[in-house]
Amino acid sequence: MYVDATVGGGGHAAEILRRSGPDGRLIGIDRDPEALAAAMVALAAYGSRAELVAGNFAELGSLLKSHAGRVDGVLFDLGVSSPQIDRPDRGFSFQSDGRLDMRMGGSNLTAAAVVNSYSQARLAAMFREYGEERESTRIARAVVRQRQSGPIATTEQLAAIIRGTRPVMPAKTLARIFQAIRIEVNDELGSLRLALEQAQGLLARGGRMAVISYHSLEDRIVKQHFRDRAVVCTCPPALPVCACGRSGPTLRVVTPRPVVPDERERQDNQRSRSAKLRAAERT
Ligand SMILES: C[S@@+](CC[C@H](N)C(=O)[O-])C[C@H]1O[C@@H](n2cnc3c(N)ncnc32)[C@H](O)[C@@H]1O
Repeated sequence: MYVDATVGGGGHAAEILRRSGPDGRLIGIDRDPEALAAAMVALAAYGSRAELVAGNFAELGSLLKSHAGRVDGVLFDLGVSSPQIDRPDRGFSFQSDGRLDMRMGGSNLTAAAVVNSYSQARLAAMFREYGEERESTRIARAVVRQRQSGPIATTEQLAAIIRGTRPVMPAKTLARIFQAIRIEVNDELGSLRLALEQAQGLLARGGRMAVISYHSLEDRIVKQHFRDRAVVCTCPPALPVCACGRSGPTLRVVTPRPVVPDERERQDNQRSRSAKLRAAERT
């Protein structure tokens, strides 16, 4: 049994079902109802072999509790999907105009609430930490100054404020600030940490988890998680119970270096450029 924890439009899920035929089963999870509707169409041909579940992968353990220890593979393809980025009304892109929303689904916080209510210091810290942006303080100051004359409601307004902080503004900076807000709105890093821990408990021995990440913050979390769990119990054999906390299921790292797209894939699919795939096997 396989789990696609970010089923999106069902592309990866369909390939997993095709390759695990005729009996392989898959549970596809997504927090975005629109993604689930698209996946339902894409996976219809697989009938009862595919099941779709609405939810946040931060709750993977409870969403799949009846399958604990029996899963052969868990896939995470992190971040936002192309349909989410390309729909202006979802508010993810600085390249089109839409309401400042950025919710993937299931979150009460919107991007508008973040930019209009967070203090300057909190905005600057968020831009620095989640966007890894050097101009964080200057941009946070500009956001706070601008909102004094009325709430910031659209992606275009926010993009104009960011652009106004430098004579020539690289697109990279805009992307970083939008990324930071998106991570905050959807608690992306917190969800990932929780999910990795739970995925391990679902896997059967020899089962694998694979994670595709798109920026260094996510990749660092995945790399560190795999590394930490690859260490076996370090307690002295005489100790009656484990005190180091490493006696649970451990992982063997399958990809000492992340797998990245080759030149052809990067050209065919521009959005794959920053992708890094890491995999680990439950021992
Ligand atoms: C990059 S897309 C996945 C695309 C998918 N692999 C495909 O083949 O179409 C990421 C998907 O993960 C979903 N997602 C992101 N974070 C999530 C979370 N914490 N819980 C559940 N779904 C999440 C998004 O809504 C989005 O649909």
